[in-house]
Amino acid sequence: MVAMARLSLLWLMIAVGISVLGTGSWAQFSIPARYDGFVYNGAGKGKGPVVWESFVDPLCIDCKEAWPVVKEVAELYGKSLVLIVHPFPNPFHHNAFFASRALHVAESLNASLVYPLLESIFEQQDSFSNPSTFHETAASVVERLITLAGKLGLPDSFSSGFSNSNTDLATRISFKYGSSRGVVGTPTYLVNGVAVAGADESWSVDDWRKVFDPLLRTPGFVAKA
Ligand SMILES: *[C@@H]1O[C@H](CO)[C@@H](O)[C@H](O)[C@H]1NC(C)=O
Repeated sequence: MVAMARLSLLWLMIAVGISVLGTGSWAQFSIPARYDGFVYNGAGKGKGPVVWESFVDPLCIDCKEAWPVVKEVAELYGKSLVLIVHPFPNPFHHNAFFASRALHVAESLNASLVYPLLESIFEQQDSFSNPSTFHETAASVVERLITLAGKLGLPDSFSSGFSNSNTDLATRISFKYGSSRGVVGTPTYLVNGVAVAGADESWSVDDWRKVFDPLLRTPGFVAKA
């Protein structure tokens, strides 16, 4: 009898698990119009920009596909929407840590070249992740990243950025920050610190406008599921 009850409980758990996975997304936690909390000595409710965080692995195909729309949306809203891209090197993309570190090296030398470098890595993405790279040395991968950076006008000191422990640490921190926010894949998006359910590379500019327009139009607004 007990064994039977255990078995049916197991089946129930499997059935519930399948039905949750089957919805393809999870419930949307309410998104506040601005980052939650009271700014000490701040201007007050509804002030400041909407904060849009995107966790991006430079070697992730979906991140590359999503990028043109993300960029267009960021440009559409100007200063009222701040887009922060966090490098999130997925461990199953074996060169992703180097590619993410390259962004930190660029940031330390000329912050305005971080996004051009990200786009350049996106363009060359396959060359950093195809099977032939399994046998490529780390030094060779880094050398190819240095070549890309050089083409964008990053200075020669870019190569020494890879022997600087600060950029190594910064890349680890990016990864750990994403992990601490519950990021398990890319791209993942947070708006004012809240995960956006179902947002992926299929989202259009209009899909994102449905998230941002109400937040920006009504500062006290809370977007519900
Ligand atoms: C950074 O890069 C931009 C774009 O190429 C360039 O115009 C600017 O002069 C660079 N800044 C420095 C400090 O090198």
